[in-house]
Amino acid sequence: MNENPMVPDLALPEEPAERSLSGVADFGRVVTPGEIDVSHGTILYLEDVTVSFDGFRALNALTLSIDVGELRCIIGPNGAGKTTMMDVITGKTEPDSGKVFLGQTIDLTRMNEPSIARAGIGRKFQKPTVFEQHPVWENLELAMKADKGWWASLRARLDRQAQARIEETLELIHLESEARRLAGELSHGQKQRLEIGMLLMQQPALLLLDEPAAGMTDDETMQLAELLNHLRGTCSMMVVEHDMEFVAALSGKAGKVTVMAEGRVLAHGTLDEVKRDETVIESYLGR
Ligand SMILES: Nc1ncnc2c1ncn2[C@@H]1O[C@H](COP(=O)(O)OP(=O)(O)OP(=O)(O)O)[C@@H](O)[C@H]1O
Ligand SMILES: [Mg+2]
Repeated sequence: MNENPMVPDLALPEEPAERSLSGVADFGRVVTPGEIDVSHGTILYLEDVTVSFDGFRALNALTLSIDVGELRCIIGPNGAGKTTMMDVITGKTEPDSGKVFLGQTIDLTRMNEPSIARAGIGRKFQKPTVFEQHPVWENLELAMKADKGWWASLRARLDRQAQARIEETLELIHLESEARRLAGELSHGQKQRLEIGMLLMQQPALLLLDEPAAGMTDDETMQLAELLNHLRGTCSMMVVEHDMEFVAALSGKAGKVTVMAEGRVLAHGTLDEVKRDETVIESYLGR
């Protein structure tokens, strides 16, 4: 089983489970990204979110919001709750209390993982999850078919529009020359870019990336920064990362960085601002 709810396991079902014979979804509401109400400029809003594990507060009244089109970097020490926050946003972990909204109206705490994925939130886990035994091209094709609306044409030939989208994505992730190679033969950095490409095939409104540069060479890291910078504006992104050079390449001079510690926001501002913050220096960056 792969971890990513947006990517199907290879034994593709005849019909997706949630589409019952009556044609009515059994859970959640299928929301297309176009239906996300971003009239107030906010794509994601968390307020006072608390998550406890056996009395330990992994998230402690966390409040944070992301503007539509923003590329937000999140930094903070190990155990700060960064991954737990992504688990809450994607429906993997239920918060004890607090609000989690996609746009103005979509209450993510009421939805399960597959409906949240379909609502337009794509998540990149740390470990690349690609179909190793399949060519790069097919990985993108399968990711697209996992998207809503594609089930009907599962066995139909790829139409021209779909082919064009795959080609565009290959170009974007710089894997044009690898299209026919098995995904399993790619380098770690190439696999990470492929998985991002697979998420992009589903045209997410918000992409969550948890330590995407971990284990990459310096060159691969900078290529990834270039890709994410290129995506800026086409979807909103939340990137959790420890690599400060990567964070600097993504946030530039004006981009906002959020520092988390002990389950809440410790500081927020430009990278230069948070680097100068005494509490951040104490708890994370060191002297
Ligand atoms: N399922 C769980 N059960 C119990 N404790 C958990 C669980 N998930 C996370 N925790 C604890 O919650 C705290 C926050 O963990 P989390 O993984 O969110 O931190 P993080 O900021 O992502 O850290 P890192 O930078 O190391 O990835 C940690 O102390 C962790 O041990
Ligand atoms: Mg983590």
